[in-house]
Amino acid sequence: MNYTSFFSEQSKASFQNEPPGEWMPNIPNDCIRLSSGYPDPQLVPVQEIDQAVHDLLTKEQDLPLHYLGTPKMDQLKSQITKHLNKRHISLQESELLVTAGACQAIDLISRVFMDRDTVVAIEKPTYMEALEIFKNYTSHFVEIPIDDQGMDTEQFEKMLMERKKNAQPLPKMVYTIPTFHNPTGTTMPVERRHQLMQLASEYDFLIIEDHAYGDLYFDELPPPLKSLDKEGRVLHVGSLSKIVAPGLRIGWIATTETLIQKLYWFKKDLDHPFLQAVMSTYLESYSIAEQSESLRLVYKEKAETMTRALELYMPEEVTWFYPDGGYFVWIQIDGVDTTKLLTTATENGVSYIPGEFFFLNREEGKSYLRLSYSYESKEQIEKGIKLLADVIKNNNKA
Ligand SMILES: Cc1ncc(COP(=O)(O)O)c(C=O)c1O
Repeated sequence: MNYTSFFSEQSKASFQNEPPGEWMPNIPNDCIRLSSGYPDPQLVPVQEIDQAVHDLLTKEQDLPLHYLGTPKMDQLKSQITKHLNKRHISLQESELLVTAGACQAIDLISRVFMDRDTVVAIEKPTYMEALEIFKNYTSHFVEIPIDDQGMDTEQFEKMLMERKKNAQPLPKMVYTIPTFHNPTGTTMPVERRHQLMQLASEYDFLIIEDHAYGDLYFDELPPPLKSLDKEGRVLHVGSLSKIVAPGLRIGWIATTETLIQKLYWFKKDLDHPFLQAVMSTYLESYSIAEQSESLRLVYKEKAETMTRALELYMPEEVTWFYPDGGYFVWIQIDGVDTTKLLTTATENGVSYIPGEFFFLNREEGKSYLRLSYSYESKEQIEKGIKLLADVIKNNNKA
């Protein structure tokens, strides 16, 4: 059967891209996984979630298992709204949409706002799964460089001025991870945040603020873009994947009520009432703030273990950014193809994600790699960095 004529034009355009997740390098199980952007397995609250499932079903019987779910779903909205209020995002429950993870949020936003010719501005580098989603909807991107302070808003302004002067289409949306960026671990300072909001107003674009790591700050949390948004231009995307458990698939979009209604149009029953009820029951005993409080200390220590080991073992030509929160350290090794180097690294027992996968034009990411300190223990992190440093030194000698 030839299905080609059945597919929509939109789908056919998407199928021109690489299949989703295909980029993921094959990583042997026995490696020290500095590649995994997953929570520390020790910190996933297995018993507590088991208890929440038990309490929920004992109390509510079949109710959470029906289409419409239970009042716990509204309770979850209220728990998230209150949490965002504490983060200086003033929000009503009608301005929040709970989604099946941040990824569904990004997909819904793309679906509602993007045509094949829509120009989307992304950071260079950016979160590869978001890029994969955007490429399903549009083929037009503007890339904004990143330095050790996140998005370079000065450069972005110049790019916008240039495009306007040359009558090129301007971006309708900007996707940014301003706080504890994936993959670079960088954070935009407040001045750049204000400048971005100013540009949004001047050049009339909307902003997707991906705040997936926002609660994992080591010392302080900079103001979310949403908290600076006076015109209703920010769609703030959040997630409980990094602080509770990614498999529960709980995320959200916080934006104006008008936009929430439009986004809901396409979502309706596409998420999981039962899992939302379980999460809400869990959060009755452990608030999001309490939950992240304890994690922050652990991840801060792990980040320090990693950066100390980098200082101790890496040869001079290796450079990196120091993270202020989140999961990642971004490394550059001048003149080295990190995709090729991964084979030797995994043979020697350590893995990472080669930088190229975070770039639209992969050639530009060849000398970078992303390390994650979230998944492995401190001992394994130190051991992994030492192994990687030896691999880099031997590669330089060859
Ligand atoms: C920047 C960023 N946004 C979103 C996500 C996905 O979050 P979720 O599991 O809620 O879909 C991730 C996960 O790695 C991420 O790094």
